[in-house]
Formats: sequence, C-alpha cells, structure tokens
Amino acid sequence: MSVLLGVDRLSVTYKSGTPALQNVSFAMNAGEIVGIVGESGSGKSTLLRALLGMLSDGGQYAGGDIVFQGKSIFSHSQGDWSHIRGKRMAMVFQDSGAYLNPIRKVGSQYIEAIRTHFNISKKAAHAMAVDMLSQMGLDEPDRMMNMYPGQLSGGMKQRTAIAMAVTMEPELLLADEPTSALDVTTQVEVMKRLTDLRARQGTGMIIVTHNIAVAAHMADHIGVMQHGALVEFGQTSKIITDPRHEYTRRLLDAVPELEGNANGK
Ligand SMILES: Nc1ncnc2c1ncn2[C@@H]1O[C@H](COP(=O)(O)OP(=O)(O)O)[C@@H](O)[C@H]1O
Ligand SMILES: [Mg+2]
Repeated sequence: MSVLLGVDRLSVTYKSGTPALQNVSFAMNAGEIVGIVGESGSGKSTLLRALLGMLSDGGQYAGGDIVFQGKSIFSHSQGDWSHIRGKRMAMVFQDSGAYLNPIRKVGSQYIEAIRTHFNISKKAAHAMAVDMLSQMGLDEPDRMMNMYPGQLSGGMKQRTAIAMAVTMEPELLLADEPTSALDVTTQVEVMKRLTDLRARQGTGMIIVTHNIAVAAHMADHIGVMQHGALVEFGQTSKIITDPRHEYTRRLLDAVPELEGNANGK
C-alpha cells in the first residue's frame, strides 16, 4: 500500500496565542480511514483545515510538514494547490449546509463545482450529480437539483455536501463531524455511505468525531487529540483494547458497549 499522507511534527498557532497544534505526526496509506477523536477545543478542526491549507483567520503554520501523495503541500504553487484542493483532497465541514449559497439552486451550484474540476458538459455534470445524490440515499435527486438550499432539511443539506465532495473522487476526504448535526438514523446511514465509498473507490478518509464509538466502528486507525497534541495514534483494535493514554481510557470508559461493537475489527 502506498503512503497517502504524512504529517510530520506539524504545529499551528493562532494570533490569540493558543498553540492549537503541537508537533502532530502521523501517516496513513491510500484507502485507509483514520478517525480523530478528542474533546471540544483539542485541535481537531484546526488539524483538518491545516491539511487542506485553509487555516481560519489568525491561524498560522508554526512548524512541521504535510506531505500529500509524495509532495509537501507547501511546495505547490497557489494554482496547483487550488486544483488539488476540492479534487484530490476534499473536505466536508461540520456545518456544510452553511457553505451552500442560499440564493442559488442546489443543481447549479453542484454542476458548477463539478465543472471546475472536470471538463464535461452541463448535461453530463447534471447526470453525475443526480447519480451521486441518489448514492447518498437521497430520494428524488432530480427534484432536489431544482430546489434552493433553504428548502432542504439539515440532513439533506449535509448529505448533499458529502455528495458534492465525493463526486470529485478525491483520494483523501476530510470530514469534520460530518454527522453530528443529524438524527441517529441519518448518522448511521451517512456513515454507511462513507464506508461503502471507501470500498468502491478506495477513498482515504480522515473523519473527525467527538464520539470514539463512531471512530471505532469505521476507522482502521484512531488518533486521540488533547490540547493540540496527538497523544495516541494506532490501529483501532489496539487503541480500544490496549489504550496507552489515560485520556483515551476515559473516552472509552464513557462508551460501555464499545467492546461488543468493536469485536472482529
Ligand atoms: N480562528 C481561531 N482563532 C483563534 N483561536 C482559535 C481559532 N479556531 C480555533 N481556535 C482555538 O484553537 C484551539 C483548537 O480549536 P479547534 O481546532 O476548533 O478544536 P476542536 O475542533 O477539537 O473543537 C481551541 O483552543 C480554539 O479556541
Ligand atoms: Mg471542531
């Protein structure tokens, strides 16, 4: 298996002074799913944004390197990088619905996003979008394409955002609590769609969740973050049966039924 992503002693600070990431190192192979867990404020979102080269205002890289498909992301020109971002590496934000433009129909936004990365006709892009919406378990995708974001439920918007990200067939999908805004049934369904996608397309994924049970269920490797540091990283089965870090033990203790779920992983 080839190495997809290597993160080497990555540090990020915000102008406010908080060291948001401190010497974070880990690596993943193509097609793997990594789950990142940790309490609120531990640096999970900062890590994903850093990988995508999209730190929010006031954030800056303070050290380390990010190597994606054999090349440091810092060595790409702006133009190359903007082509990679959204295509080879795509992100689903925590509140993805907020990234849809409320005054444009879903379909026209979706088609435009596809045509930014693929040189195809509007008609072909439309067909691609409809196909992916239905793969995400959305009924009547054709009708949805004609709707405005405000006409969709939260779950539909989130699934649309995931569909848009995965249409580009990224090699790495970054998902920041992709299901936390959804009801439990929809959460399970979306998680299943994501694991299906990995099985079908070999998409590598980093899935941030505050729920270690979700990570244990989906991920090959789990990373545990605390105060900006990756305090533990390893194979899922190892993390849940033999956690090294006291904080990981506490997260696991909070999920009593986990051992049963994780059997066989
Ligand atoms: N734009 C920002 N400006 C200043 N501090 C920030 C910003 N975004 C996040 N932080 C701080 O960085 C730390 C990590 O935040 P974040 O990555 O959002 O954690 P998580 O996603 O795990 O909740 C927190 O202390 C948070 O307050
Ligand atoms: Mg966050």
